[in-house]
Amino acid sequence: MSHEVVEKNIGLMAILVVIVISFGGLAEIVPLYFMKDTTQPVAGLKPYTAMQLEGRDIYIREACNACHSQMIRPFRAETERYGHYSVAGEFVYDHPFLWGSKRTGPDLARVGGRYSDDWHEAHLMNPRDVVPESNMPNFPWLAENQLTGEDTPAKMKALRTLGVPYTDADISGAADAVKGKTEMSALIAYLQHLGTAISIR
Ligand code: HEC
Repeated sequence: MSHEVVEKNIGLMAILVVIVISFGGLAEIVPLYFMKDTTQPVAGLKPYTAMQLEGRDIYIREACNACHSQMIRPFRAETERYGHYSVAGEFVYDHPFLWGSKRTGPDLARVGGRYSDDWHEAHLMNPRDVVPESNMPNFPWLAENQLTGEDTPAKMKALRTLGVPYTDADISGAADAVKGKTEMSALIAYLQHLGTAISIR
């Protein structure tokens, strides 16, 4: 009888189907919130410094993540090219994550330390100066724009409410740490930090 009700009422059936399927999703997703591997930072993970944090915001503003992923998958072709595969604990302080999946350019999850600061600066000014076949855009304004540091402490406070362990000293010193620095140097500070929290590279 009740079976007939469901079969003759497509709206009700759709709702019931969604409920049944969501159990499968819950069984996969809910445990992730309780597993140490996915919720605890890897040993040695530090919150972004004021400069790195501003650099990360510039990275988002310039949509670098539209062409670059930050997630090395555990496949040989990836680990040989980019280094150790990404682990969840490396991203615990990332709000939001910038994993992405679009790779017009290479993955940047472990680009930190791979090139010198000078290389990055030359590359961001005009990628073709260092990689002739590159089709990455130029970002020359980064070398001119200066940071004021006005809202850096507020950003850190907001991140602290999400569990990033910034100290009061980190927050009170944040504005001075970035004031007058170029966007270029902040972005490079961020890039040089990427993927350096775990020592196996
Ligand atoms: C339109 C797509 C595109 C955008 C947007 C873009 N890139 Fe790239 N990027 C590339 C391509 C393609 C390469 C590979 C050629 C090269 O090295 O220039 C690359 C290479 C790189 C490399 C060298 C990676 C390596 O392992 O050799 C870095 C670092 C990088 N990009 C950073 C950035 C940053 C930072 C931004 C934002 C300011 C950005 N990219 C925006 C396409 C893009």
